[in-house]
Amino acid sequence: MSNPPSRPARGPARGPARARRTRPAPPAGPDARGTELELEVGPVAHGGHCVARYEGRVVFVRHALPGERVVARVTEGAEGASFWRADAVRVLSADPDRVEPPCPVAAPGLCGGCDFQHVTPARQRALKAAVVAEQFRRLAHLDVEVTVEEAPLPGADGLRWRTRTQFAVDAEGRPGLRAHRSHQVVALQDCPISTEAVVGSGVLGARFGNVGTVEVAAGSDGAPPLVVVDPLPGTHAHVPKLPDASVAVRTPEGLHRVSGRTWVGERVDVQVGDTRREHVFRVGGAGFWQVHPAAPRLLGEAVLAALEPRAGEQALDLYAGVGLFTALLAEAVGPDGSVLAVEGEERAVRDARRSLHEHPQVELWAGSVEEALADDELAGRRTDLVVLDPPRSGAGRAVVEQIAALAPRAVAYVACDPAALARDTAFLAQHGYRLDGLRAFDLFPMTHHVECVARFVR
Ligand SMILES: C[S@@+](CC[C@H](N)C(=O)[O-])C[C@H]1O[C@@H](n2cnc3c(N)ncnc32)[C@H](O)[C@@H]1O
Repeated sequence: MSNPPSRPARGPARGPARARRTRPAPPAGPDARGTELELEVGPVAHGGHCVARYEGRVVFVRHALPGERVVARVTEGAEGASFWRADAVRVLSADPDRVEPPCPVAAPGLCGGCDFQHVTPARQRALKAAVVAEQFRRLAHLDVEVTVEEAPLPGADGLRWRTRTQFAVDAEGRPGLRAHRSHQVVALQDCPISTEAVVGSGVLGARFGNVGTVEVAAGSDGAPPLVVVDPLPGTHAHVPKLPDASVAVRTPEGLHRVSGRTWVGERVDVQVGDTRREHVFRVGGAGFWQVHPAAPRLLGEAVLAALEPRAGEQALDLYAGVGLFTALLAEAVGPDGSVLAVEGEERAVRDARRSLHEHPQVELWAGSVEEALADDELAGRRTDLVVLDPPRSGAGRAVVEQIAALAPRAVAYVACDPAALARDTAFLAQHGYRLDGLRAFDLFPMTHHVECVARFVR
């Protein structure tokens, strides 16, 4: 894998308490919301904003770039707040990487879906690389060199890649996206980062009744997209006719089919060794699947490169979803090996069972990863390889300790939050697992999100 860490940044993750220099707290100020400030913008930070200072107080500024001079309007800064948030509303000196946002609602006070539409795609990747490196320095005490790799896109630079989009519905029944850190819905006619198929579902521009959210998922098998409607609690949803989509309504009992299918079909073409093979998956309802069309292949190949599975090895796929990595590992370890997949969502496990029935070396467990790892049967097995792909919050200390107790020779950690990954890297280090490679992929262009695959060895 590329980009190995170069050296520890600041000694052990745990150690004797050291005196820390602290800045004096800024005086508790009056309510600053709506105030316009002239700011010198500092470095990018995790979360899609840059850091600036105003009279000693930290201000997180959106719609800006490091080094710019901007006028920023305070959006959060109630009386006594220790830090403020602000939007750059005028640029006094612009960075050369600043561009006109391609989407008309990617602007202060409007849609909060994208963070970096005002930045060239190459610079977006550089900003994300800086954030990943900073999280590792701060939370894992490691200096890592990070390059965020570009992913092939179906559309123009940074656009038309999102195959799954959840739209909120406003009081008039119009779908859109929420403003940043707000309940306010900005009704949309288009979402330029969503694929043509998602937009072609006809959801945008339609009117819903008694609906909180509408999620559109467009699979790669060419079938019409699936629209999953979430009624407002205790109400009966009114769903308009959507002739170009399958439609289902989520109820407490499960998905109620209105038209077409209640699932999405995905095809992934992955190179394992010398063989390129297509894998087919079924993803029920609004179940988890990567949102960038290139993600399953890129992440699958990165996981295989990180683990270097050998025929006959025994692997564990934690947080397995519908079995993307399970299928690839099953192929790689072959019929003499085994893969145990653990997933919390019953429906995802049922989908995995359908897609993976031709691999007798695969075993699927429905339930929590924490409980599976505490199971005596699992503890008694030989585990050579572990892949884990937890939700945003990461795996956490207890899961990391349980994985280390199994003593796998290699661990591949797929992470959508670099802060959680860096924190878990420190836990893994405490249990004898060293970061031996880190790749980062730009699977969420125009947003601050970034996907990482880390390799750990004993
Ligand atoms: C980021 S997704 C990864 C899915 C899969 N690896 C993939 O690439 O498609 C995380 C998955 O973990 C599952 N999950 C979340 N918390 C869990 C837990 N504590 N135990 C088991 N599964 C969990 C979710 O249902 C979801 O399918």
